[in-house]
Amino acid sequence: MEQGDYSGSKAFPPLKNDTFLKAAWGEVTDYVPVWCMRQAGRYLPEFRETRATQDFFATCRSPAICCELTLQPLRRFPLDAAIIFSDILVIPQALGMEVTMVPGKGPMFPEPLNEPADLVKLRENVDVTQELAYVFQAIMLTRYKLKGEVPLIGFSGAPWTLMAYMIEGGGSNTMAKAKRWLYQYPVASHKLLKILTNLIIDYLVDQVTAGAQALQVFESHAGHLGSKQFNEFSLPYLREIAHQVKEKLKASGLDQVPMIVFAKDAHYALEDISESGYEVVGLDWTIQPKVARERVGKKVTLQGNMDPCALYAPKDKISETVKKMIEEFGTQRYIANLGHGMYPDMDPEHVATFVETVHTHSRQIRKNE
Ligand code: CP3
Repeated sequence: MEQGDYSGSKAFPPLKNDTFLKAAWGEVTDYVPVWCMRQAGRYLPEFRETRATQDFFATCRSPAICCELTLQPLRRFPLDAAIIFSDILVIPQALGMEVTMVPGKGPMFPEPLNEPADLVKLRENVDVTQELAYVFQAIMLTRYKLKGEVPLIGFSGAPWTLMAYMIEGGGSNTMAKAKRWLYQYPVASHKLLKILTNLIIDYLVDQVTAGAQALQVFESHAGHLGSKQFNEFSLPYLREIAHQVKEKLKASGLDQVPMIVFAKDAHYALEDISESGYEVVGLDWTIQPKVARERVGKKVTLQGNMDPCALYAPKDKISETVKKMIEEFGTQRYIANLGHGMYPDMDPEHVATFVETVHTHSRQIRKNE
């Protein structure tokens, strides 16, 4: 493949819009590409209708439905990337843990890990290729059905975030159970984080084999750590994942794909994150774009970071916020997104305003440059 040619493997329809990939690799783009975290979500009536018929994880195991849900937001908005419909908690499931999605409440593990002795309950030598074949099938099918319109993003949860769910048994305000492990059982914590890291590496490589054209790693619970614990229990594993995925892609003769790290609420570690081996750093909305740019320079592409709740504002206010955000980030080495996922009560028309303003305003700036 020639540099800058992202049309991809002949087995799939050639890529028509590579703006997102170009921005991710730090190449010049004519406009700022945009996608939204949780763009396939309950704010879309068609999503609610498709999802209504079955349980959340049964949906995740149905490639055709995952494909349909992934494509839905692209039919409405001129987004520059698709993200495969799935969930980060399929990894704990592959390790043998039971996870259910309780409507209106979120994920629930009936038997979370309580103490280090519980680690023996986790399945050993998990064959991700086989165990999570349903995700790879969904990716392959979606690559065909996308017809090359935009690239497809694959993803995984990061080790600390998955560990936190596996110990807490669901969401938590304090993460006290999971953090107790870090303080009381550091050796067992590292053991668990290492098990997860190895699985995540295979999982991400298999997603690229199946057709994913970029990868995002979600460290959604980074904010609970603080810099000391982040440096010990998150950063080394994030680095390992980026490094090993790239090595394994090379060894398998696969094209490299840009990797995005989204460590929510971890701007205390922004410099280290920007040097951890990822092409793109995702930002939550609690950091000013200008400050983030100053701190990381032009070494990486930044992604984010409008407060998702800004979508509740009237449309003209949304446009104003988006314009300011683009001016602060600049039109290059930048992918517009929200600072976290959308909520179910958000208005699709406001999402349309968000996406449209990113495109029109960034083109305008480029024209005047
Ligand atoms: O459009 C997309 O973003 C792609 C699909 C996607 C989902 N989950 C589908 C989903 C992605 C990328 C995720 C990642 C994910 N899952 C994360 C990391 C991102 C983040 O939010 O920080 C986390 C922490 C999870 C775990 C998870 N899944 C929680 C906490 C919940 C409940 C919260 C909620 O929104 O209800 C889920 C459920 C979930 N995953 C939904 C969707 C669309 C909503 C439930 C439904 O459809 O019934």
